[in-house]
Amino acid sequence: MNIIQEQTRTSEIAITQERMPLFDALVKYAKKNITPFDVPGHKMGAQSNPLKNVLGEMTMKMDVNSMKELDLLSHPESVIKEAQQLAANAFGADHAFFLVNGTTSGILAMILATCKPDDVLIVPRNCHKSIMNGLILSGAKPVFIEPEVDVHFGISHGVSVKNVEKTLLAYPEAKAILVTYPTYFGSMNDLRTICKLAHDRDITVIVDSAHGAHLAFTPGQIDPISAGADIVTMSMHKTGGSLTQSSILLLNEGRISAKTMQKTLNMLQTTSANYLLMSSLDAARRELALYGYDRFKALKPIVEKTIHDIEENTCFEVLKNDYVNQLCKQSYDWTKLVIRVNDCGLTGFEVYTLLKEKYQIQMELAEGYVVMAVITTADTENSLKKLVWALSDIDRVYGGKTPIYSTSVTPTHANKLLISPRDAHYAEHELVPVDMAIGKISADLLMIYPPGIPLVIPGELISEEVIQQYHYYSQTFGNVLSESDLKNHITVVKE
Ligand SMILES: Cc1ncc(COP(=O)(O)O)c(C=O)c1O
Repeated sequence: MNIIQEQTRTSEIAITQERMPLFDALVKYAKKNITPFDVPGHKMGAQSNPLKNVLGEMTMKMDVNSMKELDLLSHPESVIKEAQQLAANAFGADHAFFLVNGTTSGILAMILATCKPDDVLIVPRNCHKSIMNGLILSGAKPVFIEPEVDVHFGISHGVSVKNVEKTLLAYPEAKAILVTYPTYFGSMNDLRTICKLAHDRDITVIVDSAHGAHLAFTPGQIDPISAGADIVTMSMHKTGGSLTQSSILLLNEGRISAKTMQKTLNMLQTTSANYLLMSSLDAARRELALYGYDRFKALKPIVEKTIHDIEENTCFEVLKNDYVNQLCKQSYDWTKLVIRVNDCGLTGFEVYTLLKEKYQIQMELAEGYVVMAVITTADTENSLKKLVWALSDIDRVYGGKTPIYSTSVTPTHANKLLISPRDAHYAEHELVPVDMAIGKISADLLMIYPPGIPLVIPGELISEEVIQQYHYYSQTFGNVLSESDLKNHITVVKE
């Protein structure tokens, strides 16, 4: 494409992306003088309800059910269909589907659409819990790939291309591979190469991009659709600017059809999809498509200065692209600030609590060594200066103690999957003391923090080594999280 053609195309996109068919139709409807005899029963806020005083009349009027002029999420034909098509165009995919139960529902749908019972699904071991639930619902058999563990920051990154290639060679019968891109902590592996390796073997690539809705509009970053993924789900509500719970599933047709995807989503989504959520997707898509790139471009030097100022004024260290690249050949999403605090004798949990209680700063998460801030185009020089100031104060007042290091080892996961997670879920269970669990099949999901990787999943054999690591992590700086209510007990499959 020459420059003139490119400019014409860009201005055509700008004109189209101005539109918000769903949002506009909803506002128009809310402004009509309608007498509702349909649900929801608050009848556009007419019912006495304390919510209205806080949310305002217009919000209540916009909380309506589907009807002809507002289309239907399960069978879109008009304004939802147009809004989804605009989203697909903005993200460069063939199709987009609006989700009203977050990326969690998109992940379940991606797995159910690609895997039948007993099909092999390749997944990163440090995947989100919804993927474990997708394995239970679908009956697919997981083959895990270990993520790259970062002992210095006490977190895990994405899976390496080398390990993906090895696994694809070992399991040529795999139906799909799921990639987390970016990871919660912001690392991004070479997804282009992973897509090529999988597609060469006709294996579908599905991407959990819960934390990557902004990537397509962020200078210098590669988004999962451009990288060649078949299906991608991204939490627009996390970094794309829409309301909490609203996500988008993107599909590039070929391996999975739009019809299959719609049918699968209809099994999982409510028949009363929330219009505030859906219209917020329409509005957020417009903002990203029209202004996202420029806003992120303007934000980048502010983030760079923030990193510089944190490291200049404290003994904290911030995770950076060069570091991640050198450690495990992955790139790093600069909109995440992972701040390592343990060198001054504080845990991430302590800094997280101090930031909240003393400085009214809410971080995204804390781990043993780190706290993490998510940066979006809502942030400004001022909000980031406040963070730098608070961190400097914490370092000055509370820091300067003996550094905290875990002697934690990297877990080895040579666990045997004896039955599928689905069979383990539906089997009869019993709760046993940890040491009595050796030799039994787990019905529990045990997670180890740091670095946030499952120690054992439902269906796996609980070996002696698993229990040794359980004790090791519980007794050292680490943490073991289990799903059972009783401490030092594991739920196992009853023999
Ligand atoms: C990696 C990852 N995947 C999926 C999800 C689920 O996303 P949602 O909250 O939109 O359902 C999360 C949520 O935090 C996540 O961290």
